[in-house]
Amino acid sequence: MIIVLNNKSNLTREEFIEYQSELSKIKSKHNIVLCPSIIHIANFYLENIHLGSQNVSKDKNGSHTGEVSSLQLKSFDVEYCLVGHSERREEFNETNLVISKKIKGLLEEKVIPILCIGEYTKEDLDTTVKVLKKQISTTLKELTEEEKKKVIIAYEPRWAIGKGKTSQIKEIDHTLKSIKEILPNNLLLYGGGITEYNIKDLKKSSFLDGYLLGGLSLDINKFKKFLQELEK
Ligand code: 13P
Repeated sequence: MIIVLNNKSNLTREEFIEYQSELSKIKSKHNIVLCPSIIHIANFYLENIHLGSQNVSKDKNGSHTGEVSSLQLKSFDVEYCLVGHSERREEFNETNLVISKKIKGLLEEKVIPILCIGEYTKEDLDTTVKVLKKQISTTLKELTEEEKKKVIIAYEPRWAIGKGKTSQIKEIDHTLKSIKEILPNNLLLYGGGITEYNIKDLKKSSFLDGYLLGGLSLDINKFKKFLQELEK
């Protein structure tokens, strides 16, 4: 399983030092990927954890004030990068076209894109699947079949993020199954409202290759409980 920790815009310099020291003690058979706030990437040193970024520029190196390019990420040994997170789509008006450029740029540097998709409000299942199919087709349409397979898909319903609860596993599985039908060879993650408790149900899904954690990533004790539950 791949477990991605999205710290979002959290942790000061001192807090990140303490956080890494706690994470360094974690032993897990799963692949844990830490996506810290981009300001901490240069201070990442963990050997038991992979490094990811929360964002990347849509452009190559050059005059793009405030942006970080895929080549720069690669030079810090970043292996994964989130793209299309609903918070970026909403707060920074990121369109599917921009997301598709980011994915292309990352693949050129051999950084694995984790494409986040998800509906904004709770919809009936057919509408949800329609929304997701559109997000997938518009963001991946420029890629070759070989390139497509390298993208990890993270299904994260916007309405579940930060709420500490998910839909019923039956509903989640219905949606995941539809994604697998379009992209049978891609790794598939679920995120949004995951806790150390509801992982008990989520882990019953037969379509999942991993999880994307927001709030839970910031509380090491809860994260350890999550891992224990997952490994039971
Ligand atoms: P929560 O786990 O806090 O719901 O956030 C999920 C998320 O947005 C991860 O990218």
